[in-house]
Amino acid sequence: MIRKAALPALLFVFFLLEGAEGWFYPPPVPPEEYGNILINRTSEKNGVKAATFSHWLHRRRHTCRVCHFELEFNMKVNTTEITEEANKSGRYCGAAGCHDGSVVFGHDEGNCQKCHNGDKSYGKENFNRLGHLPRTQFGNKRDWSVAIEKKLIKPRNFLTVKPSGDINFSKKLLLEAEMLNIPPAVFPHRAHTRWLDCNNCHPDIFNIKMKTTKHFSMDYIVQGQFCGVCHMNVAFPINDCERCHPGMGNKL
Ligand code: HEC
Ligand code: HEC
Ligand code: HEC
Ligand code: HEC
Ligand code: HEC
Repeated sequence: MIRKAALPALLFVFFLLEGAEGWFYPPPVPPEEYGNILINRTSEKNGVKAATFSHWLHRRRHTCRVCHFELEFNMKVNTTEITEEANKSGRYCGAAGCHDGSVVFGHDEGNCQKCHNGDKSYGKENFNRLGHLPRTQFGNKRDWSVAIEKKLIKPRNFLTVKPSGDINFSKKLLLEAEMLNIPPAVFPHRAHTRWLDCNNCHPDIFNIKMKTTKHFSMDYIVQGQFCGVCHMNVAFPINDCERCHPGMGNKL
């Protein structure tokens, strides 16, 4: 037990001592700002404030798959060529049933400020809508896995493109560490396929044919690669060691 609790702290010191190799942990943000982004590829250049976007607000109603597979938003801010013209013609934010004015506000005068306000904490008063969800220690401090599994939230999994029926892949993988005495990381497919399409990860982030596990070291993960694509900024963050390495404690 002592070792379990002390391990992350020891490792942390170890990696600090490593100097340049030390891991960078994103500074903690208030739970109501975790996963919020400001999209500003073209906004300010065109005389409007950056568009604010909150993941926790949207993921209650739609899975990642809807936006990052069907609507083709990239999982890196400011890399998708979102334009106001595309939004108004039914793509991206303006997709049917989204910001087209039918269910939620659309792209008309009077609504511009709801998106183009440059305020990362915009809408934080709505965070109490997550009040009923079980708690965790980091990120939004809400357990999104239990929330979706127990149907405390029921996000839509598609708009028009249904997931194919055969995606029931639920293999739980044990990712063995290359380092001595490090408890392996677990990768439960099911906890991910509730939210994501296979294509969100295969083959771009993880090549199933290559068995690349040995290359996913924490150095890469904290730089936002592999598991770090999502677990640095939207899904529970990297500080939560024991959710990935069940044999470790969380004492950072
Ligand atoms: C309602 C749509 C929507 C949903 C649902 C959604 N996202 Fe996003 N996500 C976006 C948009 C828009 C961006 C910004 C894209 C851009 O600027 O190119 C983004 C960006 C990201 C980024 C990059 C963040 C950064 O700081 O660079 C990650 C990672 C991400 N999303 C993961 C997820 C995950 C995981 C889920 C599900 C839990 C999810 N998203 C659900 C719309 C969505
Ligand atoms: C639902 C959110 C939303 C609403 C409402 C909205 N926009 Fe946007 N708009 C965006 C996003 C996201 C982008 C892409 C921003 C970027 O990459 O910098 C964008 C881009 C823009 C751009 C950048 C240049 C271009 O043409 O793409 C302008 C200008 C713009 N919007 C003006 C407006 C105006 C004016 C309104 C109100 C009539 C409005 N927007 C309403 C989300 C919104
Ligand atoms: C999102 C999942 C995830 C989280 C959170 C996470 N890890 Fe890892 N970690 C991995 C994966 C995947 C590997 C590579 C396979 C393995 O070595 O078990 C790994 C590997 C490691 C290794 C082996 C050496 C190396 O650099 O790869 C150490 C040490 C480690 N993690 C420590 C930690 C500590 C300490 C924390 C908390 C601060 C943490 N991890 C949080 C997924 C995670
Ligand atoms: C969140 C990311 C993610 C999603 C979504 C995902 N996978 Fe994986 N998958 C992984 C990782 C990580 C591995 C391990 C890769 C490695 O070891 O190189 C893996 C491995 C696999 C393997 C090889 C298993 C083995 O025993 O070696 C198969 C097959 C697979 N995935 C199929 C799927 C299918 C089918 C889906 C959709 C139902 C899916 N995956 C969705 C991340 C994902
Ligand atoms: C494409 C995005 C994405 C990638 C890549 C990804 N995850 Fe996740 N992961 C999620 C989301 C979304 C959840 C749901 C929980 C949340 O959002 O906090 C999740 C949940 C989990 C859980 C479930 C925790 C629980 O309490 O049930 C584990 C464990 C996990 N991820 C480990 C990993 C590991 C290890 C890797 C890399 C091998 C990885 N994930 C890669 C998005 C991702």
